[in-house]
Amino acid sequence: MTLIAFHDGNGNSSLVVWQKCALKIDKNTSFVALTHKKAEQAEIALVWNSPKGRLAKLKQLKLIISLGQGVDHLWKDPSLPLSIPIVRLVDPYMSHALSQWVIAVLLDFLRDGPFYRLKREKREFCKLSQRETYQLKVAVYGIGAIGSVVANNLKNLNFSVTGWAQSKKPQLLFRQETGRAAFQSLVTSNLVHICLLPLTSSTKRLFTKDVFMKMPKGAYFINAGRGEQIDEGALLYAVGKGHLSGAALDVFCEEPLPDTHPFWNEKKISIWPHVAAQTNPETVIEQIIEAIQAVKSGCTPKNVVNPIQQY
Ligand code: GLV
Repeated sequence: MTLIAFHDGNGNSSLVVWQKCALKIDKNTSFVALTHKKAEQAEIALVWNSPKGRLAKLKQLKLIISLGQGVDHLWKDPSLPLSIPIVRLVDPYMSHALSQWVIAVLLDFLRDGPFYRLKREKREFCKLSQRETYQLKVAVYGIGAIGSVVANNLKNLNFSVTGWAQSKKPQLLFRQETGRAAFQSLVTSNLVHICLLPLTSSTKRLFTKDVFMKMPKGAYFINAGRGEQIDEGALLYAVGKGHLSGAALDVFCEEPLPDTHPFWNEKKISIWPHVAAQTNPETVIEQIIEAIQAVKSGCTPKNVVNPIQQY
C-alpha cells in the first residue's frame, strides 16, 4: 500500500475526489490529510500550499508531487526537504484550457467587449471602429508546456507572435528571443504582453513601472503566470494614467485578492480568481501514479523539477 499525504490548500475539500480517481488506476493507494498524524508515515506527498515545516516531518517521504503546474508554492517553505525529488504536473488539457482563457480575454479586449457591455446596459446601439488586428504583435513571456501552446494558438489566429524564454526551443515554430536585451526590445515593440512564466528569483518583479511605461501606448497586459512577477502598483499606475489600455489578471500577489485591493476600483483591469487552468484529477492522475511507480521502482519520474532553477 502506498500512503499519499494530500493537501490541496483549500481545506482538503477535494481529497475524496482525488482518492477515487487514484483508486481507479491503482488499488494500492491510500490518501491521508497531510496535517493528520498518520501522514508522517507517507512515502508520497501530493500538495498545494502545504503548511510550512510539515513536509520535513514526513521521514518516509520519497517523492513530492505539486498539485499544479507551478511549484513556486513549495519554495515558500524554508524547511522543504530538497533531497526528495519534486515532480510537477504537465497536462495538455490544462495548457489547452489556459490558452482558451488567454484567447478569450485578448479577443474580448481587441473587439471592445467592455465597451459594448457598458453600452448594452444603457440600451445604446453604437459602434466603435474596428481595430486592425491582422498580424498584431504579441509577446508571450514563457514558452514551456503552457506558453508554447498559447503562442502556437495565437499564431494560428494570425497574430505576429514572439516567445521569450531562457533558452530557444528549436522544435517550436514561432519566433523566439532570449536574454534581457531581447526582453526590453519585446516590451517596446509589442502591443500585447502575455506573462506565463514560472515564478523564480529571476522572474520575480520582472514587470516593473519602467517596463510597463516602456510598452507602446495602448498596450494590453495579460498575466496567468504569478502575481509576484509584476509590481502591482506600477501596473495600476500605467493603466490609471491611460498608458496601458488595460489588463486581464488571473494571478495576484495575495490570493484571494483582498477586497480592499485597488485593482477592484480599476474597471480596465479584469480580475479572474486563478481559474485560467484548474488542475483536473481525471486528466493528471495517470502521470501521478506513473511518477509514484517510477520512484518506488528506483527510476527517475518524468517532469522532475530542478530546485536550483526553481521550475
Ligand atoms: C496553477 O496556477 C498551476 O500552477 O497549476
